[in-house]
Amino acid sequence: MRQAFFILLFLLGFSSLVAQNDYTPTKENLEAREWFEDAKFGLFIHWGVYSVLGDGEWVMNNQNISVKTYEKLPLFFNPVDYNPEQWVKMAKDAGMKYITITSRHHDGFSMFDTKASDYNIIERTHYKKDILKALADACEKEGIKLFFYYSLLDWRSDDYFPKGRTGNGIEGRAETGDWNKYIAFMKAQLTELLTNYGEIAGIWFDGHWDQKEWDGKKFGAVKVDWHYDEIYTLIHQLQPQCLIGNNHHLAPIKGEDFQMFEKDLPGKNTTGWGTNSGDIGALPKEVCETINGSWGFNLQDKKHKSNKELIQYLINAAGYGSNLLLNVGPMPNGEIQPEHIASLKNMGTWLDQNGETIYGTRQGPVAPSSSMVSTQKEGVVYLHLLDDQKDTYLIPHFKGKIKKMTFFTNGQKVAHKVNEFGLTFAVPQEVRNDVDTIIVMELK
Ligand code: GLC
Repeated sequence: MRQAFFILLFLLGFSSLVAQNDYTPTKENLEAREWFEDAKFGLFIHWGVYSVLGDGEWVMNNQNISVKTYEKLPLFFNPVDYNPEQWVKMAKDAGMKYITITSRHHDGFSMFDTKASDYNIIERTHYKKDILKALADACEKEGIKLFFYYSLLDWRSDDYFPKGRTGNGIEGRAETGDWNKYIAFMKAQLTELLTNYGEIAGIWFDGHWDQKEWDGKKFGAVKVDWHYDEIYTLIHQLQPQCLIGNNHHLAPIKGEDFQMFEKDLPGKNTTGWGTNSGDIGALPKEVCETINGSWGFNLQDKKHKSNKELIQYLINAAGYGSNLLLNVGPMPNGEIQPEHIASLKNMGTWLDQNGETIYGTRQGPVAPSSSMVSTQKEGVVYLHLLDDQKDTYLIPHFKGKIKKMTFFTNGQKVAHKVNEFGLTFAVPQEVRNDVDTIIVMELK
């Protein structure tokens, strides 16, 4: 009897493994991918007890704060001004269609009501309320989809062992641990996240790279088994439409539904540790970027991106066939910095006028360059001209047959010529916009 039970367990485990290896997304999942690609713009929120220190979400590692000392932070985290309806409204007004919020970051603190660890918002803070639940309710009300960021890496859990490359200056971390217990813990938390918060649009994993060997210059092999096959199967079993993405900076792994690019347009890898151009897969793409220079709240960060930079980043992302997930790091009181609210509002105003050329589009036929990207939908190509100093453009080897070419804002015809060199067109000063001059090209 006992033996039969174990054989059954083995077969179940085996079948789920096979299921993921042969991953065929469900109909709901494929529809969700379409929605995701149409949505184009989301809000990333990095929020945790670290915000109290105003020095980013890596502060535990960067300041080598011991586990014991860091444990005092939750007591100071009392975000009485947290108003999820306002956050959701802000995102909506910015033209964003979804929100991705950190449920648990590398510091190991859960911002939600979890039974898998007592190191959470309910048990360790005076606030005692489930941040995620309130946000999930507000999102549901406003028709904004919700994703959960989930850290694979944990600087506090005793079972996160072997320790990885980061957080090694943190005193009080365990010197032994049970990796399988850690995997079980993550599964338990993910089950909660996918059971208690309604429909979840996606899970956004991060921290994979912590367990890669590093010789100071180059990454090597991964030292642990993350059990992605089981974890991804579990997620898709609980919510088939839930999109899985992983910030591992690699080509997509079986079971994933979108590919993400950190602080870089797909294929650029200007950071040096990002995804290489050869690793771009065919899944929907998402670029994430900070509104200033930090993910988590950073009091001294003055590197707020200009309105032009932010809007052009969104346009560029779309021109690379990607979404933009733009991050804010709320302050410890629950408010978002006013300068960031203003920047987001500005993006919303731009999208109100020009959203037609972004939402629902796919990457256009003209290869992206620093002065021009293209998007397309329903037989129409949108050329986005990003250099307001340029008066003539050449698209070499242009193959399409042009029916009509007009400026998006005023419908005026665009003077153009197609010859053996390609398509040439002129952009007179008076129609040029310093952020984006859009041309609508209808093809035969
Ligand atoms: C990096 C950082 C992490 C941040 C993430 C967002 O992986 O380690 O702090 O959450 O980027 O893209």
